[in-house]
Formats: sequence, C-alpha cells, structure tokens
Amino acid sequence: MVCSLIWPWMATASSIDEASLARTPPMGWNSWNHFGADVTDADIRHAADALVASGMAAAGYRYVIIDDGWQGQRDAQGAMHPNAKFPDMKALADYVHGKGLKFGIYSSPGPQTCAGYGGSLGHEAQDARTYASWGVDYLKYDLCSFRRSMDGQSDTAQTAMMKAAYRLMRQSLDATGRPIVFALCNYGWGRVWEWGAEVGGNLWRTTDDIQPNYESILFNAGAQQGLERFAGPGHWNDADMLEIGNKGMDSPDMERTHMTLWALLAAPLIAGNDLSKMSADTRDVLTNAEVLAVDQDVRGTPGRRVMQEGPIQIWARTLADGTQAVGIINTLNHSLTAKLDLHALGLSSPVPARDLWQHRDLGSLDSKHVFDVPSLGVVMLKLGASKR
Ligand code: GLA
Repeated sequence: MVCSLIWPWMATASSIDEASLARTPPMGWNSWNHFGADVTDADIRHAADALVASGMAAAGYRYVIIDDGWQGQRDAQGAMHPNAKFPDMKALADYVHGKGLKFGIYSSPGPQTCAGYGGSLGHEAQDARTYASWGVDYLKYDLCSFRRSMDGQSDTAQTAMMKAAYRLMRQSLDATGRPIVFALCNYGWGRVWEWGAEVGGNLWRTTDDIQPNYESILFNAGAQQGLERFAGPGHWNDADMLEIGNKGMDSPDMERTHMTLWALLAAPLIAGNDLSKMSADTRDVLTNAEVLAVDQDVRGTPGRRVMQEGPIQIWARTLADGTQAVGIINTLNHSLTAKLDLHALGLSSPVPARDLWQHRDLGSLDSKHVFDVPSLGVVMLKLGASKR
C-alpha cells in the first residue's frame, strides 16, 4: 500500500498565487540593522516575544526574518545546515509560528552572501526544499557575490543574468508547494523595478543599504520618486528596512519622518531595531494605527513628493476611500511653519483634515492654514471626506 503524507502547504506548485502573498506591503522585523551577522537563535526568539508583547504583532508586523549570518556548512549531499548559533532551525521556526508569526530567512544567488557565508548558487532547488521543510514563509535573496559573475558583461546581459537567477529561485520556492514571500535584494541594479514582478518578486530593494541617520532616510525615500507605477498589490518597491529605534535616529521627530515617508510610499515595513530594548517613543512610532493604515491601504498606490519649497517637502498618496494622505516634511534643523496649497493637491477648499500622528480631527482647513512643523520632523494628515 502506498501511503502519502499531505502537509497543508503541500499544494501543487501551480496553485501558488504569488501576487496574493503580499497584497499589502509586508510588515515584520529583520535582524540585520541591529544584530548584523552576530545574530543568534536567542535573538530571534526574543524578537518574536517582543513583537507580541509590544503590540507590534497586533498592529500587523508578522514576519520575523533572520538576515545574513545563520549559515553553516553543506553536507555530503549538498544540503545547507545552520551554524552553531542556530542549533535547530525547524524548532526555531516552530517557536516563531507558535506565536502566530511568520518565519523568514536570507540567502544569495551567488556562491557567497554579502557577509561571506554560503550562498545558494547551484543549490537553488535543494535550498528551497530545505527552507520549506523548516517552515520558511519569506526569503530575502541578496545579489552579493553573484555580481562577480556579471563583471565585464553588457548592461543588457547583466540584467538578463539577474532575472534568470531570481526567476530560478522563485520557481524553486514554488516547486516546494509552500507559499513563500520572495524579497529581491539587488540594490536597484538593472532597473529591478521594471522586472521584479515578472520574475516573481513580491518586493525589491531599490537602493543601496539604508543607514541609521536622517540623510539616509531622506535619500532612500527620494530615490523612490518616479517608481510609483511599478508597485502595487503583490509587488512593492522596497526602500529598505526601518532604522526606527536604532542608534543615530536621534529624536522621535526623525523617527516619525521615517515612518511617514515609508507609509506614503507603500513601502514594506520591516523593523530593524532591538525590540527587547525599545523605548516607549519608538514603540509608539512603530505602532501608530492610523499611520500603518496608510501604508497598508488596499488600493496599493504609492505616493510621491508633489512639492518642494526649500527645506519643506510635501508628499501625498491617494487612498482607497478617496481621501489623500499627506506628509509635510521639514528637512531643516529648526522648526518651520508651512501651508498646503490644496488646489495643487487636487483638493477642494475647505477640506476636512485629520492629524494622523496626533489622532486629532482638525476641522475643515483651507490653503491659508499654517502648520507648525518641528525640526527634522513631520505633520501627517488625512485630507478629504471618505467616499466609502
Ligand atoms: C547587503 C544587504 C543588507 C544585508 C547585508 C547582509 O548589504 O543590502 O540588507 O542583508 O547584505 O550581509
């Protein structure tokens, strides 16, 4: 008699609807920005615990992702094993799942990852099966040493190589039958936003690595300008993981600016701080429900910078209910006042307004209303009457 064991995730490969894996931008936590390659099994468990205890899980953060630094050696059959810092990856995934969360991991299409650990080159199908057997729900796939094989090739050939490498891993993940979110990381090379969705990516990094400082936040946000049309439900421009709560993000105003921009951009929200030691201010920035609702808006249309006057930038995003989310960003290291040209935003005047950070209705405003915007801070508004 032939006995077959069917796990819930063992659907046929063709039954995986890749776009449905990330209908809204993925939310979670990743080890890299705080722990780097020193990350351990205990760090991941503590992060999962803190995600739940802090209210972040309830606010929508679901994926707990181990970045670079978990890999050990391949065995005689070629299967990758974790290093001594991760004694039992399946048990760790079970622990994360037991908290109602999802589990993510990291690899590279090259022979080595960026931190010099083993990559997946030549082992794509095998690695995908290993991840599925552990219970992985999210893979960040980072170009790293694959770049060496692209040296000397034309731009067109380089792009074709990257597309093939990412498509191969997507197909390998799908072949396991387990739904796995696929996060492309190639720093925007080859205009990845043009082909990220085509090769099955649910999100793709558009820039080099974010740093925990104001300039880097503004730079990464600015680099999304013009990419709005490439993102939407199932496939997102990734402005990189959050630095909120990390050393260098010196004030709650800076943290609110970071969060506002990512929400207006419909960017994935992958926290990168030490969740077990975060301040109440940082937790409040990460869990403000009205701001998160903008990021997760079901229409999935990213916003853009619509105006700039010296240090004042106005960013806006149209939401599913017909209202507009607007950020007034002050890039000066001193407070400033600012007005909103409602006509230029396509809004009638006066318009009902709500302050999303303060959870406060502001009544009906016209273009003469003066906003006080703190140094390196932001005012975030929802403008208009909901058409729902
Ligand atoms: C690259 C990525 C980072 C991180 C490191 C890990 O720099 O862009 O996000 O994953 O590799 O080595």
